[in-house]
Amino acid sequence: MQKIITAEQLCKEYNNGSNTVKVLKNIDLEIYEGDFTVIMGSSGSGKSTLLYCLSAMDSISSGEVKYQDQRMNNMNEVAISKIRRTEMGFVFQQMNLISTLSLFENIIISGYLKKESKKTVHSNAMSLLSQVGLDTFAKRLPSEISGGQQQRVAIARALINSPKILFADEPTGALNSKSGKNILDTLSHYNNNDNQTILMVTHDLKASLRANRIIYLNDGEIEGELALDKYAAENIDMVEREKNVLNWLQGMGW
Ligand SMILES: Nc1ncnc2c1ncn2[C@@H]1O[C@H](COP(=O)(O)OP(=O)(O)O)[C@@H](O)[C@H]1O
Ligand SMILES: [Mg+2]
Repeated sequence: MQKIITAEQLCKEYNNGSNTVKVLKNIDLEIYEGDFTVIMGSSGSGKSTLLYCLSAMDSISSGEVKYQDQRMNNMNEVAISKIRRTEMGFVFQQMNLISTLSLFENIIISGYLKKESKKTVHSNAMSLLSQVGLDTFAKRLPSEISGGQQQRVAIARALINSPKILFADEPTGALNSKSGKNILDTLSHYNNNDNQTILMVTHDLKASLRANRIIYLNDGEIEGELALDKYAAENIDMVEREKNVLNWLQGMGW
């Protein structure tokens, strides 16, 4: 399996005046292409910080973070932002769509970052909107659709540059359970059909079931990990899977 992100002895600390808070402690972790990896852990355990450090959105205090075989910690900001723009996609709890732009425009402005032709970007944007079931809403503003639909647009926006890896931080956190399931189905679809690599932070059990690998974070340290079969709703015993994962999570102190 091809490694896409590697962390070696990754530490992240914050200095608040006189005291230092260690948020990530000597994390060793490899993320593989094609995997749907989930980071679980209680609130405050460092999940978001880890996601931001692995995607070079945040600086690290010591150790290494590599994208493929490139060390990101001593790269300049221009090189890092090029990798983020062209190789990585991001989805957050808050969708952060630009309120004055249509759904279509929200997607294409991210597409222009990769310097593709206008025609290619436009046709890719329409095809993504149709994949997430919103092509007939292309001209609407974000305020004219539901939260769940906005999150689907955010996923389409994140995928416009065909990123090697999609990072998602609690993408279902602001949604009701029906919209949340729809978002998870969308993510599972891209992982199963396009082999889209996904790294998702969540503290939701249902969301974690989509992963084929779960990492458990406790107080800034990796406490354990669980390997699962790839999620494919048709041929999987979801009751059994949920029981297994819950059991394991409880053993981790969840
Ligand atoms: N800018 C900051 N300054 C100081 N502490 C921070 C900062 N950002 C996050 N933290 C602390 O880091 C810890 C982990 O935060 P976070 O990664 O957001 O956790 P999670 O996503 O698992 O809820 C928390 O204890 C939080 O208070
Ligand atoms: Mg968080």
